[in-house]
Amino acid sequence: MEFREAMARRHSVRDFADRPVEDEVLRSILDVAVTAPSWSNTQPYQLAIAQGAVLEDLRAELPRRFDRAAALQRAPMLTKARAWLSRDGLPDGDFKPVLKYPRDLQPRRVATGRGLYELLGIGRHDYQARHQQMAENFRFFGAPVAIFVFVHEGLGVYSVLDAGVFLQSLMLAATDAGLGSCAQGALALWRSPLDQHFDIPERYKLLFGISIGYPSNHRVNQFQPDKLGVDKLLIPTRPA
Ligand SMILES: Cc1cc2nc3c(=O)[nH]c(=O)nc-3n(C[C@H](O)[C@H](O)[C@H](O)COP(=O)(O)O)c2cc1C
Repeated sequence: MEFREAMARRHSVRDFADRPVEDEVLRSILDVAVTAPSWSNTQPYQLAIAQGAVLEDLRAELPRRFDRAAALQRAPMLTKARAWLSRDGLPDGDFKPVLKYPRDLQPRRVATGRGLYELLGIGRHDYQARHQQMAENFRFFGAPVAIFVFVHEGLGVYSVLDAGVFLQSLMLAATDAGLGSCAQGALALWRSPLDQHFDIPERYKLLFGISIGYPSNHRVNQFQPDKLGVDKLLIPTRPA
């Protein structure tokens, strides 16, 4: 596939076909992605691949955690305080989730969310349907493979940068192989379920997950939010 075609065809897939990803195909896209550049060539990330029984266990456990956290949000103050003290039901990821978006970025976030819900016919105040759609994150949108990416804390933001370069490389390789993918910050909300299945090396922190599989024909996969053009992202020079 031509590079430009792969760039244009890649988009976030949020519903996957009931079809496994062949081992050799998965291996081949990973082999391509690990050629990505990184800070001093350190490749400061580690990958945990969930498939089969491990994935099914996570697909059961993570939505439970999400439901519980959502219920807590609506609970009386005392219940919330107890949960906060015991950390019971609250996210236990390595990085703090973004709860409040910066004011200048919020409109972009709102427009993207609105576009997705409109496409799915979910009304603005239909909290139940919104919750269900959000919960699909924790079911990996039905994907047969999920990859969790951990970054070395010792390189600070640079390992995060490298993981981003790796992420796009992996998603493009997946597109080239006819696969779909969705990068998911949501999959970094809970770390403890992963510790039950993987011996994650010390000093590696969970940054995001990626669901991978063959895209289904569901209309959610037609969602393609518009992007800011280059002109909107350029910082003009100061007048002399
Ligand atoms: C680091 C990162 C985290 C993301 N987290 C999520 C997520 O948790 N759930 C989700 O549905 N999409 C997630 N996305 C997908 C973005 O919403 C998507 O990339 C954006 O809306 C642009 O759409 P496109 O990927 O189709 O071009 C994430 C993307 C990135 C790069």
